[in-house]
Amino acid sequence: MMATRGAMTVLLFSALALSWLPLRAVLERAFSLHKGHSVKDMETTFQLVRNIIPPLTTKKHKGQDGRIGIIGGCQEYTGAPYFAAISALKVGADLTHVFCTKEAAPVIKSYSPELIVHPVLDSATAVRDVETWLPRLHTLVVGPGLGRDDALLQNVKGILEKSKAKGVPLVVDADGLWLIAQQPSLIQGYPKAVLTPNYMEFSRLYEAVLRDPVDSNDHHGAVLRLSQALGNLTIVQKGERDVISDGEQVLVCSQEGSSRRCGGQGDLLSGSLGVLVHWALLAGSEKTNGLNPLLVAAFGACALTRQCNKQAFQKSGRSTTTTDMIAEVGPAFKKLFET
Ligand SMILES: *[C@@H]1O[C@H](CO)[C@@H](O)[C@H](O)[C@H]1NC(C)=O
Repeated sequence: MMATRGAMTVLLFSALALSWLPLRAVLERAFSLHKGHSVKDMETTFQLVRNIIPPLTTKKHKGQDGRIGIIGGCQEYTGAPYFAAISALKVGADLTHVFCTKEAAPVIKSYSPELIVHPVLDSATAVRDVETWLPRLHTLVVGPGLGRDDALLQNVKGILEKSKAKGVPLVVDADGLWLIAQQPSLIQGYPKAVLTPNYMEFSRLYEAVLRDPVDSNDHHGAVLRLSQALGNLTIVQKGERDVISDGEQVLVCSQEGSSRRCGGQGDLLSGSLGVLVHWALLAGSEKTNGLNPLLVAAFGACALTRQCNKQAFQKSGRSTTTTDMIAEVGPAFKKLFET
């Protein structure tokens, strides 16, 4: 049945030289295809991602292509902020700043000489220390390896408030989302925020905000409703397929990945999204055909993460880890967006 439907779709498309959207609407009604974004649909979005990527030129100064801040890294977790920061660099950011606890800093520094690491997150002056850097940061990624220590989360609240006041775009993941679930008003209505929950984090957030369990048969509707309830900020529900919404549109990224899930994959996504968010907002909606630039950024980061997963899995199979995926960022980016 599915094969027949697919064949019919192809036939219809080749037979009718109509514009895509009305035809898609017709198809959705005729074949209830609304759950599946077709290849062609994804291809349109890929083109929009390509449009927001700044060209490499010799005229730019260091920092212009992205200075990304990461808020996270504590005694237990040092890998996540490293993965997020190095992914941002590999995607094309010029500089990354990790703001972590005093204890975590030397560990994170020892992973890589390429990161700037500030041991401030558990200090009494954390909010002020990070605030000083905010004017120089293009996006703040909040949550990788943050943990749930009360004092740290209190500081992160202050950092979120300062970032919003200064209009700094925010990507919130992991325990940053746990904080948001405790206090949704921290992010509600802030248009430059992107949340990247996995299914568990999504359910927690959904129940906190909508006071209702998630209908697991309607991912699209659930993501759309949560986005609207939070004031139309952009939400990426990571899963077998990534569902992305800004309260108005729903995009699905079903770029082929692999069946291998490793811890740290989400950090690759949040770090690369940090860069793409900056590029997308810089490019503006003229470059995205009127589509919300944050949706385009989110789609790009999801597709890239999946492609890295696929390529790493081809080489390493079951033993694939996030480090293998990060090694694929360059080639995967080139394959998806530069050819
Ligand atoms: C969010 O978007 C929906 C759909 O476009 C719109 O009806 C609603 O008013 C928007 N809400 C806010 C808070 O902007």
